[in-house]
Amino acid sequence: MAISLKGRSFLTLKDFSPEEIRYLLSLAHDLKSKKRAGIPGQALKGKNIVLLFEKTSTRTRCAFEVAAMDEGAGVTFLDKNSSQMGKKESIEDTARVLGRFYDGIEYRGYDQALVEQLAECSGIPVWNGLTDVDHPTQALADVMTLEENTKKPLDQCKLVFCGDTRNNVAYCLMYICAKLGIDYVGWGPAELAPAEDVLAWCRAEGEKSGASFTISSDLAAVRGADVIYTDIWASMGEEDKIPQRVALLTPFRVTPEVMAAAENPACIFMHCLPSFHDFETKMAREQRELGYDIREVTDEVFRSRASKVFDEAENRLHTIKAVLVATIGG
Ligand code: CP
Ligand code: NVA
Repeated sequence: MAISLKGRSFLTLKDFSPEEIRYLLSLAHDLKSKKRAGIPGQALKGKNIVLLFEKTSTRTRCAFEVAAMDEGAGVTFLDKNSSQMGKKESIEDTARVLGRFYDGIEYRGYDQALVEQLAECSGIPVWNGLTDVDHPTQALADVMTLEENTKKPLDQCKLVFCGDTRNNVAYCLMYICAKLGIDYVGWGPAELAPAEDVLAWCRAEGEKSGASFTISSDLAAVRGADVIYTDIWASMGEEDKIPQRVALLTPFRVTPEVMAAAENPACIFMHCLPSFHDFETKMAREQRELGYDIREVTDEVFRSRASKVFDEAENRLHTIKAVLVATIGG
């Protein structure tokens, strides 16, 4: 049967079948080719979407805006200071109002329950633009980037996530690996291991797809990686944890030695961005003054030929466009 995602929300990849995820990936590749060829889209003509950001963003916001505009939709952006939501108006009432105005809602914030509530109360598709425990549009772009860079079928690939293996990006990667049969290794300190229920869900799903899940602090676990992936050590809202994270995560910084430990010349480096790979940011400099080196990857790896981070960032646009077109497109 033909796949249709019309009217569906996109809150977590756990809700989607492998076939539905492959459909979104295939649509994203198609939309990327069309954009490259200068073929304009009209799939969202006459639609309007609203973007709610309680946390800051560069890629996700711009990807939603450009994706919507490329396909003919109107966009409203609201940051945490420019709506009544949560302060003078409940989430339920806000959702019910936005559901009368718009065709879809993007939400980035803290609580996964909030994005679920928006979906429940608004009556229109809601897209998760990152919460404390998930970032599903990121994982879609990451697998698209892997597909562009590997000659192997996805179910023969191995992805190693280095560092804070219980953060939102690690979790969404675990979910997509579980769905698509990609072997997953979380290489980090035991103190930051994934939650037992997350691991149990992934292992159960992996039984169907063939994906294995290994959590290890041993560098040997990196061997055979097709992708070495990392993220910042203290996610948005966790800045007060920087001292303890630096102590725990410095041994898991991605260096040329870590890349070499893959023993795979075709291994690529990926990162959701933003990244601390040098001291060209205010935060990295301020923390250095305090005695903390917060770089999760060296500049050498970040700028190496193996690094696909900017292709990956571009693919946020094409995958988010695929999600919009699939769920609200005409
Ligand atoms: N990767 C990502 O979500 O980037 P932004 O925080 O800039 O949206
Ligand atoms: N883990 C990071 C991802 C940013 C895209 C954060 O939540 O800040």
